Amino acid sequence: MSVFVEYARYYDLLYRDKDYAGEAAYVHTIIQSCASGARSVLNLGCGSGRHDRCLAELGYEVTGVDISEEMLTAARNAAAVNPGLKYVHGDVRTVQLEKKFDVVISLFHVMSYQTTNADLMAAVATAADHMHSKSIFIFDCWYGPGVLTDRPTVRVKELEDEALAVTRIAQPVMHPSENVVDVNYRMFIKSKVNSEIHEICETHKMRYLFVPEIQLLLTGAGLELSRSEEWLTGARLGCASWNAVFVCRKRPA
Ligand SMILES: C[S@@+](CC[C@H](N)C(=O)[O-])C[C@H]1O[C@@H](n2cnc3c(N)ncnc32)[C@H](O)[C@@H]1O
Repeated sequence: MSVFVEYARYYDLLYRDKDYAGEAAYVHTIIQSCASGARSVLNLGCGSGRHDRCLAELGYEVTGVDISEEMLTAARNAAAVNPGLKYVHGDVRTVQLEKKFDVVISLFHVMSYQTTNADLMAAVATAADHMHSKSIFIFDCWYGPGVLTDRPTVRVKELEDEALAVTRIAQPVMHPSENVVDVNYRMFIKSKVNSEIHEICETHKMRYLFVPEIQLLLTGAGLELSRSEEWLTGARLGCASWNAVFVCRKRPA
């Protein structure tokens, strides 16, 4: 999986306005209601670690795993001396840390990056392998009914900081029989120092998921669904929901 290589360099700028603190607070409320007293968190697909740092401030010890060395470098640099944060390079489909965590999280569509049934089964099995009998697994994803109702369209995002002006064009191509959307990103990065423009292109394949297949995936890994809702709003899932969150537990023996 070779996405988040060049893209990673601009990730924090592109998502500068994303409310990671608010999202971590929301995840914290889910943990409080579903696994109160939880302390250790495994973040599968941690990216640049912004949720991790917010969760550490809320008292959690977080281990982050990511396949992108570039994203992990950003996470490690920002974590610097925080002893509550650890980072491991790995693939969410195969990583084995030989340790159980109170909570496993996988946020901002990491599960949607697992586009085949085999990838999804492997990623869910990884989560299950790192859970004890009282742990929960929280993940969000592109939600199938929402994506099919309000299909992805071309979007343009423009952002800048002191050094760079970035224009990102996202052009989606749907593959409805695979439940996958290719998001073709084209980015123009302009240096404010010498006006040079650098162009990068990356395709991010995204799988949109439906509740019955999620239930099947969880069953295969010895898990079950205990809660589902719209990400952040907590609303009941429906055709207007693009981003869903699922809370899963071990099936009772
Ligand atoms: C949209 S980013 C989300 C990052 C982070 N969770 C956040 O909220 O900012 C998706 C992340 O998933 C990681 N990722 C995708 N597939 C992966 C895999 N199979 N194993 C490990 N990391 C993966 C990417 O490298 C990237 O950092």
